[in-house]
Amino acid sequence: MPDTQKIGIDAVAVHVPKYFIDLKTLAFANQVDPDKYTIGLGCRRMAVAAPDEDPVTMAVRAATTLLKNYSINPRDIGMLIVGSESGVDGAKPIASYVHGMLGLPSCCRSFDTKHACYSATAGLRMASDWCAVRSASTGKKALVIATDVARYSVGSAGEPTQGAGAVALLIGPDARVLEFDLYPEAVHTEEVMDFWRPSYRSTALVDGDASINSYLDSLVHTYSLYQKASDLDINRYDHLLFHVPFPKMAYKAFSRLYELEVSQRRNGVAPLKQEYAARTEPSLWANRELGNIYSGSLYLSLAGLIERSTDPISGKRAGLFSYGSGSCGEYFSGRLGTDPQAWKGRTGIEEGMKRRVELDYRKYLEFRWAGERLAYEGSYFEELIDPAVRSDGIAFLGIRDHQRIYATYNVSRDRDSEPAKPAQREVPVFNSL
Ligand code: CAA
Repeated sequence: MPDTQKIGIDAVAVHVPKYFIDLKTLAFANQVDPDKYTIGLGCRRMAVAAPDEDPVTMAVRAATTLLKNYSINPRDIGMLIVGSESGVDGAKPIASYVHGMLGLPSCCRSFDTKHACYSATAGLRMASDWCAVRSASTGKKALVIATDVARYSVGSAGEPTQGAGAVALLIGPDARVLEFDLYPEAVHTEEVMDFWRPSYRSTALVDGDASINSYLDSLVHTYSLYQKASDLDINRYDHLLFHVPFPKMAYKAFSRLYELEVSQRRNGVAPLKQEYAARTEPSLWANRELGNIYSGSLYLSLAGLIERSTDPISGKRAGLFSYGSGSCGEYFSGRLGTDPQAWKGRTGIEEGMKRRVELDYRKYLEFRWAGERLAYEGSYFEELIDPAVRSDGIAFLGIRDHQRIYATYNVSRDRDSEPAKPAQREVPVFNSL
């Protein structure tokens, strides 16, 4: 491995939406055997975005938790990248709203990345390269946020694999959460029509079988490239984390790698189920609770692992596979931070889980329709959000004069940061509710 500067994920925080629906409730409404969703797909619950939540508000919530829980001064952020499949505007990036609402310094590069669920990984890898060149001389770090609302049509095969949420990652040389191994890149790009969302639709379209096959092909390509470059075999990874569109997909992915290792007759491997239970299953609990959060789903697994692993994981090696339909996949690895006090209890997942409220099927439909209606011009005047279902901290109130209107309240700021600048002049800032 080349002797290069240490870089990695220095902090991770998650926004867990307040509302969820149980998959058994959804199965009952769809007249499907619940075992198909819970055993066949491995799902348990899925987060539902509140009517006043959108990718912008979720990104701000995740980043606010990160800045607060890890005591990060916003002045130290020199680059902001938002990875999302759920873009809210054809031109203006989510990053510019987030930049304004967080009060980040003006000398901060900000932009969005898009490649379906690979979006945030594209941002993360770019941010790592930037930090390797800039951080030592400037002390600046990069903030990468994955934020998505995953919606398929009501009653479709994809519906049980929906979800919502955001993950914020701080990238820098301290690498308290995950220090990247600096092996050559293992990336695979191939044009495939497996999952897409035309700009006139709020719900994604998917060819289920093609998407699963493309995911697994991409995994084999990237893992094999990485194996060749690093000479790491499956036994050298204590944890294997995957993009998780639904938890059973992580099992399919692990099984494929296992077959690959067995076919290459590498060093002895334990039975498949035992290996899977040790290396992948402990990272999946949060994915079972939130569902597919698209670009953040791999990093939700990472946060879930570091928060709830019952075995000591400090210093252990994790392999990570990111897949974005369309398609681009990347495999990389790193060492989990040696000091659990630096990250345990700081991701915000546990607090988010405690605040959750269950929806029945009727409310779930109401929430998604209300959210979709807010995406149109004039919705600000029509749609008054019922305070009973308001999210905490920041709310999307609809569109007026073709501009998105947000209200922020109780969003904690670092007192030393630059003064708060509303993302646009019309943003009402509430000090309390
Ligand atoms: N009890 C237990 N298991 C049952 C069951 C029952 N009563 N009924 C069915 N099952 C099992 C099936 O055997 C199957 O298991 P295996 O895959 O292990 O064979 C599983 O449940 C699913 O059943 P089907 O294959 O019949 O399900 P489906 O065709 O209706 O839908 C899906 C499955 C294609 C994944 C669909 O949910 C979908 O389209 N999801 C969105 C696309 C997606 O997530 N693709 C993943 C790769 S793409 C990607 O990763 C990017 C991204 O984020 C979207």
